[in-house]
Amino acid sequence: MNDKIIVTGGCGYIGSHTVIELIKNNYKVIILDDLSNSSEETLDRIEKITGKKPTFINIDLKDADITNEVFKSHKDAKAVIHFAAYKAVGESINNPLKYYQNNLYSLLNTLSSQIENGINNFIFSSSATVYGTPNKLPITERNETQRPFSSYGNTKKVAEEILDDLINSNATFSAISLRYFNPIGAHESGLIGELPSGTPNNLMPYITQTAVGIREKLMVYGNDYPTKDGTPIRDYIHVVDLAKAHVIAVKRLIHKKQETAFETFNLGTGNGFSVLDVIHTFESVTNSKLNYEIVERRAGDVPELYASTDLAKEKLGWTADKSLEEMIRSSWNWEQKLRNKTS
Ligand code: UFG
Repeated sequence: MNDKIIVTGGCGYIGSHTVIELIKNNYKVIILDDLSNSSEETLDRIEKITGKKPTFINIDLKDADITNEVFKSHKDAKAVIHFAAYKAVGESINNPLKYYQNNLYSLLNTLSSQIENGINNFIFSSSATVYGTPNKLPITERNETQRPFSSYGNTKKVAEEILDDLINSNATFSAISLRYFNPIGAHESGLIGELPSGTPNNLMPYITQTAVGIREKLMVYGNDYPTKDGTPIRDYIHVVDLAKAHVIAVKRLIHKKQETAFETFNLGTGNGFSVLDVIHTFESVTNSKLNYEIVERRAGDVPELYASTDLAKEKLGWTADKSLEEMIRSSWNWEQKLRNKTS
């Protein structure tokens, strides 16, 4: 029988790509999602791509009783991958309680429900934001964590601390925290991708929405950073590469290959690209000019962030293999398909 995996937030951007990879690897997927930042249509698209429709349960994980009921009816699941969370950095700074309430209640209810029902494997969707402003590059998992600038970021850091405490108190529970750098790109079919609600916060969707004519121009937040061209450097990673790492982590947990009960891995490519690199690559991939303007710095941006990928390579046997061009091409393909459908 195929192993069952519960995926919270499975209709979202990274969640839906991971569900596809899980199905491709013959897992039976149960998606728990409240559709607060995603759409049920994603399920049909997953079915189009994989030939299988995952089981979907519309549930608010902040409700402890309902969450426990759902986990009780799926207590044969082998692992939980927890994506469900709010993720808008700026909004979290203006409304911290919304972020702490949603991201932490849903985490706590998921953890207590799964443990009560004997599901002892957990994968956490974390972020490079837990490193704050790094004093050493590339960032290894041994870099010390710092209090992130945003409340969103702090929910990720606090969540990792909760997991650490939980593992120290519970001999049967195991977890892997995956710290994402900057996920971009979309599924090659163009059927699944990132769909930010309202004005995008992140660079890639802002670029594609500008190019397609939804936004007038891209604001580049500062060109006076201590980097080669003055714009901040990030480690962009293709969402499909990221999704594949989750399948490897699931296998590692189910087959008890972990070296310690709580492991943490960076998921990046190890390559840093500046904002201008991304813009120029976009222009060359699409053979077009992007309307952009250099403006003031955005609060909280760090100058440079890229991963050491050694640990994930050594322990998981995973490396990201898609180039920046491929990431951008797939994001653009997704944006255009979306636009054609709605216009
Ligand atoms: N940028 C612009 N204009 C925009 C959007 C972004 O110039 O309209 C710049 C930013 O200033 C930054 C770079 O593009 O230099 C990347 O910005 P993103 O918002 O795409 O990504 P961040 O690195 O700020 O944030 C990402 C994730 C967060 C996570 C953080 C951890 O989106 O979830 O990394 O560092 F918390």
